[in-house]
Amino acid sequence: MSESPTDVLREEHELVLMVVAAMEREVTSIETTDHVNADRVANMIDFTRNFTDGCHHAKEEKLLFPLLEQRDPAAGGPVSVMLSEHDAGREAVRAIVGALPDVEADAAARRTVAENLGLYAQLLRLHINKEYNVLFPLADRLLGELDRRRLAAEFERVEEEETGAGVHERYHAMAHALTES
Ligand SMILES: [Fe+2]
Repeated sequence: MSESPTDVLREEHELVLMVVAAMEREVTSIETTDHVNADRVANMIDFTRNFTDGCHHAKEEKLLFPLLEQRDPAAGGPVSVMLSEHDAGREAVRAIVGALPDVEADAAARRTVAENLGLYAQLLRLHINKEYNVLFPLADRLLGELDRRRLAAEFERVEEEETGAGVHERYHAMAHALTES
Protein backbone atom coordinates (compact mmCIF):
# COMPACT_ATOMS: atom_id res chain seq x y z
CA MET A 1 0.00 0.00 0.00
CA SER A 2 1.27 3.47 -0.78
CA GLU A 3 2.25 5.80 2.03
CA SER A 4 -0.69 7.81 3.39
CA PRO A 5 -0.65 11.49 2.35
CA THR A 6 -0.63 12.68 5.96
CA ASP A 7 2.45 10.50 6.59
CA VAL A 8 4.20 12.25 3.69
CA LEU A 9 3.36 15.62 5.29
CA ARG A 10 4.52 14.38 8.71
CA GLU A 11 7.90 13.37 7.25
CA GLU A 12 8.25 16.79 5.64
CA HIS A 13 7.46 18.39 9.00
CA GLU A 14 10.55 16.68 10.44
CA LEU A 15 12.73 18.59 7.97
CA VAL A 16 10.80 21.83 8.51
CA LEU A 17 11.29 21.50 12.28
CA MET A 18 15.04 20.96 11.84
CA VAL A 19 15.24 24.34 10.12
CA VAL A 20 12.93 25.91 12.72
CA ALA A 21 15.35 24.73 15.44
CA ALA A 22 18.25 26.23 13.46
CA MET A 23 16.31 29.52 13.33
CA GLU A 24 15.87 29.46 17.11
CA ARG A 25 19.62 28.91 17.57
CA GLU A 26 20.31 31.79 15.17
CA VAL A 27 18.07 34.09 17.26
CA THR A 28 20.06 33.22 20.40
CA SER A 29 23.31 33.76 18.53
CA ILE A 30 22.19 37.18 17.19
CA GLU A 31 21.11 38.20 20.68
CA THR A 32 24.39 37.20 22.29
CA THR A 33 26.83 38.35 19.58
CA ASP A 34 24.87 41.15 17.85
CA HIS A 35 25.96 39.55 14.58
CA VAL A 36 23.78 37.92 11.90
CA ASN A 37 25.22 35.01 9.93
CA ALA A 38 23.70 36.26 6.68
CA ASP A 39 24.68 33.17 4.66
CA ARG A 40 23.00 30.83 7.13
CA VAL A 41 19.88 32.98 7.26
CA ALA A 42 19.81 33.12 3.44
CA ASN A 43 19.84 29.30 3.39
CA MET A 44 17.00 29.21 5.93
CA ILE A 45 14.99 31.56 3.69
CA ASP A 46 15.81 29.52 0.59
CA PHE A 47 14.59 26.36 2.42
CA THR A 48 11.47 28.09 3.73
CA ARG A 49 10.44 29.57 0.40
CA ASN A 50 11.21 26.61 -1.80
CA PHE A 51 10.66 23.59 0.43
CA THR A 52 8.28 24.63 3.23
CA ASP A 53 6.17 26.84 0.98
CA GLY A 54 6.95 25.60 -2.53
CA CYS A 55 6.67 21.90 -1.77
CA HIS A 56 4.96 21.29 1.57
CA HIS A 57 2.42 24.11 1.84
CA ALA A 58 1.65 23.74 -1.88
CA LYS A 59 0.55 20.14 -1.27
CA GLU A 60 -1.65 21.27 1.60
CA GLU A 61 -3.13 24.35 -0.08
CA LYS A 62 -3.66 22.98 -3.58
CA LEU A 63 -4.64 19.41 -2.75
CA LEU A 64 -5.34 18.42 0.85
CA PHE A 65 -7.32 21.46 2.04
CA PRO A 66 -9.69 21.69 -0.97
CA LEU A 67 -10.39 17.95 -0.75
CA LEU A 68 -11.19 18.19 2.97
CA GLU A 69 -13.60 21.05 2.31
CA GLN A 70 -15.17 19.06 -0.49
CA ARG A 71 -15.72 16.10 1.82
CA ASP A 72 -17.06 18.24 4.69
CA PRO A 73 -17.79 21.99 4.48
CA ALA A 74 -17.21 22.20 8.24
CA ALA A 75 -13.51 21.57 7.53
CA GLY A 76 -13.46 25.13 6.13
CA GLY A 77 -13.01 26.55 9.65
CA PRO A 78 -9.75 24.80 10.56
CA VAL A 79 -8.54 25.13 6.95
CA SER A 80 -8.93 28.92 6.99
CA VAL A 81 -6.90 29.08 10.22
CA MET A 82 -4.15 27.03 8.54
CA LEU A 83 -4.18 29.30 5.48
CA SER A 84 -3.91 32.48 7.54
CA GLU A 85 -0.98 30.97 9.46
CA HIS A 86 0.78 30.14 6.17
CA ASP A 87 0.29 33.79 5.20
CA ALA A 88 1.61 35.06 8.54
CA GLY A 89 4.71 32.92 7.98
CA ARG A 90 5.21 34.44 4.52
CA GLU A 91 4.97 37.90 6.02
CA ALA A 92 7.72 37.12 8.56
CA VAL A 93 9.88 35.76 5.72
CA ARG A 94 9.35 38.93 3.68
CA ALA A 95 10.47 41.03 6.68
CA ILE A 96 13.65 38.93 7.00
CA VAL A 97 14.40 39.18 3.27
CA GLY A 98 13.89 42.95 3.39
CA ALA A 99 16.26 43.45 6.34
CA LEU A 100 18.97 40.92 5.48
CA PRO A 101 21.04 43.10 3.09
CA ASP A 102 21.48 45.72 5.84
CA VAL A 103 22.49 43.57 8.80
CA GLU A 104 26.18 44.50 8.69
CA ALA A 105 25.58 48.23 8.98
CA ASP A 106 22.26 48.53 10.74
CA ALA A 107 21.35 47.36 14.26
CA ALA A 108 17.62 47.78 13.51
CA ALA A 109 17.96 45.37 10.57
CA ARG A 110 19.66 42.80 12.85
CA ARG A 111 16.75 43.17 15.31
CA THR A 112 14.19 42.76 12.52
CA VAL A 113 15.89 39.56 11.35
CA ALA A 114 16.07 38.14 14.90
CA GLU A 115 12.48 39.09 15.75
CA ASN A 116 11.02 37.62 12.59
CA LEU A 117 13.08 34.43 12.74
CA GLY A 118 11.76 33.97 16.29
CA LEU A 119 8.22 34.80 15.22
CA TYR A 120 8.35 32.40 12.29
CA ALA A 121 9.77 29.57 14.42
CA GLN A 122 7.11 30.02 17.12
CA LEU A 123 4.35 30.25 14.53
CA LEU A 124 5.46 27.11 12.70
CA ARG A 125 5.76 25.03 15.89
CA LEU A 126 2.20 25.98 16.92
CA HIS A 127 0.96 25.50 13.37
CA ILE A 128 2.44 22.01 13.01
CA ASN A 129 0.99 21.04 16.40
CA LYS A 130 -2.43 22.18 15.21
CA GLU A 131 -2.07 20.09 12.08
CA TYR A 132 -1.27 17.05 14.23
CA ASN A 133 -4.04 17.67 16.75
CA VAL A 134 -6.85 18.91 14.50
CA LEU A 135 -6.26 18.75 10.79
CA PHE A 136 -4.60 15.38 10.23
CA PRO A 137 -7.07 13.51 12.47
CA LEU A 138 -9.83 15.23 10.46
CA ALA A 139 -8.17 14.10 7.21
CA ASP A 140 -7.81 10.56 8.50
CA ARG A 141 -11.51 10.58 9.38
CA LEU A 142 -12.84 12.22 6.21
CA LEU A 143 -10.72 10.59 3.53
CA GLY A 144 -11.42 7.10 2.33
CA GLU A 145 -8.88 4.69 0.88
CA LEU A 146 -9.49 5.92 -2.68
CA ASP A 147 -9.08 9.56 -1.63
CA ARG A 148 -5.84 8.70 0.11
CA ARG A 149 -4.46 6.86 -2.89
CA ARG A 150 -5.38 9.70 -5.26
CA LEU A 151 -3.91 12.31 -2.94
CA ALA A 152 -0.65 10.37 -2.56
CA ALA A 153 -0.38 10.20 -6.36
CA GLU A 154 -1.13 13.92 -6.69
CA PHE A 155 1.54 14.69 -4.08
CA GLU A 156 4.04 12.82 -6.20
CA ARG A 157 2.95 14.78 -9.25
CA VAL A 158 3.44 18.12 -7.43
CA GLU A 159 6.86 16.94 -6.38
CA GLU A 160 7.90 15.97 -9.91
CA GLU A 161 6.23 18.67 -11.98
CA GLU A 162 6.04 21.73 -9.77
CA THR A 163 8.76 21.33 -7.20
CA GLY A 164 11.16 19.73 -9.66
CA ALA A 165 13.31 16.61 -9.62
CA GLY A 166 16.16 16.59 -7.12
CA VAL A 167 14.73 19.48 -5.13
CA HIS A 168 13.65 17.30 -2.24
CA GLU A 169 17.16 15.85 -1.94
CA ARG A 170 18.75 19.29 -2.08
CA TYR A 171 16.60 20.62 0.79
CA HIS A 172 16.99 17.42 2.75
CA ALA A 173 20.75 18.01 2.64
CA MET A 174 20.31 21.69 3.51
CA ALA A 175 18.18 20.92 6.61
CA HIS A 176 20.90 18.54 7.82
CA ALA A 177 23.67 21.05 7.08
CA LEU A 178 21.79 23.76 9.02
CA THR A 179 21.38 21.34 11.93
CA GLU A 180 25.05 20.43 12.03
CA SER A 181 26.66 23.82 11.47
FE1 LIG B 1 2.11 21.16 7.29
